Amino acid sequence: EKCGYEHFMLKEIFEQPKALQDTLASRIKGGEIHLAPAIDALLQECTHLLIVGCGSAYHAGMVAKYVIEHFAKISVEVDVASEMRYRTPLCRQGDVCIVISQSGETADTLASLRLLKELGVKTIALTNVVGSTISREADFVMYTQAGPEIAVASTKALTTQLMCLYLIAMVLKKNHDATLLAQLSQIPSLAQKLLEKQEDIQRFAARQFNKDKVFFMGRLTDYAISLESALKLKEISYTHSESFAAGELKHGPIALVDESTLVVAMCTQPQLYKKMDSNIKEVKARGATALVVTFDRVHEFDDTADEVFRIPETEPYFTPMLTVIVSQLYAYYCSVLKGNDPDKPRNLAKSVTVE
Ligand code: F6R
Repeated sequence: EKCGYEHFMLKEIFEQPKALQDTLASRIKGGEIHLAPAIDALLQECTHLLIVGCGSAYHAGMVAKYVIEHFAKISVEVDVASEMRYRTPLCRQGDVCIVISQSGETADTLASLRLLKELGVKTIALTNVVGSTISREADFVMYTQAGPEIAVASTKALTTQLMCLYLIAMVLKKNHDATLLAQLSQIPSLAQKLLEKQEDIQRFAARQFNKDKVFFMGRLTDYAISLESALKLKEISYTHSESFAAGELKHGPIALVDESTLVVAMCTQPQLYKKMDSNIKEVKARGATALVVTFDRVHEFDDTADEVFRIPETEPYFTPMLTVIVSQLYAYYCSVLKGNDPDKPRNLAKSVTVE
């Protein structure tokens, strides 16, 4: 049931505040995070973390690498499942792997899980489907409370995976930080505030949906979420979109920038505003149109960007759960404006159970 929404994808985008809240609320008791006694105990002992998944799940892992290394000072290795299973993973006894899969059925992710178990790695499944194969075979399971995701392009499953990974980061951090937990708890209502501005994104898409190339760039977590943003846009709007760590621009990708390029610069890392501003000037000088996504009260980009889209203030490392909603809405409206069916993009299946 689409409940009055034109497509499942739009409905699922709008379900994110509730999905995030459901995923968060059941794990906070008395101002502290409790995942499950066995998972909490496992994480207390963890000194090296692996994360594996495909597509959006891999991108959630990329965000988590930055977040966990920053807050918990534990090294994190992230890999796409189709690579992990065929390379020579150098795992040690005592390593922990978070296996991320919305469906819990992806063939490559399942194969990686089986390989890691053979190597003596403890596995935690992070999945949305209760009783799925990956949830049954992993040593431990943590469910995203997103509810069923019907649209092929992942939205609320991805943001709830991120919420779980932030909770894991806070547990790995060991020393309790009430301020961070309070900021994390506000994310669902900030997502709601952001969704109330959807018409701004719709209007921007109406002007830009015909761009030949769209590049998403950022630094740190902004780079990690750029990967997911480019995937969303290519999946449902069939626009050629790529993502770059902004510092890599001058090492090659800038050769592609011309008047037909839209550059979406994710700018939520205050210590890197100046670097991002230089990158935006570089692409503008080659004729690109630049959209900046930054915080409400930031004016550093007013003179450089063609357009600024603002997200509510929060801890800078928490922004992927908000900035990705901007990308989801942008991709959705581009898809609809091009006459595509965003719920059923060509060539893609919801669950990839063959290799
Ligand atoms: C992106 C998308 C895919 C999936 C990927 C993994 O919108 O839906 O990239 O994220 O196929 O699927 P799961 O998470 O079910 O293992």
